[in-house]
Amino acid sequence: MTRTVVVTGGGTGIGQAIAARFAGNGARVIITGRRQSVLEHAAGEITGNVEVARFDATDADAVTAFAAGVGPVDVLVNNAGGNTDFDRTAPNSLGEVADSWRANYESNVITAVLMTTGLLSHMNDGGAVVTIGSIAADKGSGSYGAAKAAIASWNIDLARQLGARSITANVVAPGYIADTEFFRDVLTHEAKDGLASPAMTGRAGAPRDIAEMVEFLASDRARQITAQTIAVNGGEWPTR
Ligand SMILES: NC(=O)c1ccc[n+]([C@@H]2O[C@H](COP(=O)([O-])OP(=O)(O)OC[C@H]3O[C@@H](n4cnc5c(N)ncnc54)[C@H](OP(=O)(O)O)[C@@H]3O)[C@@H](O)[C@H]2O)c1
Repeated sequence: MTRTVVVTGGGTGIGQAIAARFAGNGARVIITGRRQSVLEHAAGEITGNVEVARFDATDADAVTAFAAGVGPVDVLVNNAGGNTDFDRTAPNSLGEVADSWRANYESNVITAVLMTTGLLSHMNDGGAVVTIGSIAADKGSGSYGAAKAAIASWNIDLARQLGARSITANVVAPGYIADTEFFRDVLTHEAKDGLASPAMTGRAGAPRDIAEMVEFLASDRARQITAQTIAVNGGEWPTR
């Protein structure tokens, strides 16, 4: 039976690779994001059954409207997010500090929580929720790393809640991934090499590295894996 997969932030980078991976395996994929032209361009590049839905995943009303019309969902990939500090100047007041912390929490935590809560009653039993975390949760990266750490904690409770429905909930935590809009296209070649060099594999991660793991976690081969944070970072940050 054709599975329905929702990928937030599916118009660029890691999300687009995840969408392409599921669509290539025959799923009906819905990619979401805030820019219509970006979503349509991505849909045109992906081979398979891809639909687009433009809305801001921090907007509760927009998420409610999307959930009401989407139909049954098998896999939700909470990929939307990023470090909103890249769009801000350094804070000059406590108010600006609060704004920057709220922005990263909204972008990375609220998006995932609203999408998951909004779609839960539409999800088929036996499905999967996969949320994209970050190596920044372990290494530290201000409000961005703190927001990604919050996701990992929230995911444990989510997995507990969904276990009875045989829906798994996991976080995939990438290291540095090249070919995304994450760094807003401002990195020099030297800066990219500097980000890639701590990986034991000697290379930057690619969006497809994350897509492979997400697709596996949502597959029949991973039904006993839940409540976990899975690192995909080329060994940059080892775990036991
Ligand atoms: N690249 C890395 O090195 C790296 C490392 C660790 C973790 N990550 C995580 O990987 C995920 C994907 O990022 P990426 O690297 O692929 O960067 P990206 O190309 O910037 O992708 C982020 C996507 O999220 C969408 N998005 C952001 N805020 C949104 C919102 N409020 N509502 C709906 N869509 C929203 C963006 O589209 P619109 O702007 O059009 O909405 C964009 O398509 C993020 O959660 C990021 O934190 C990335």
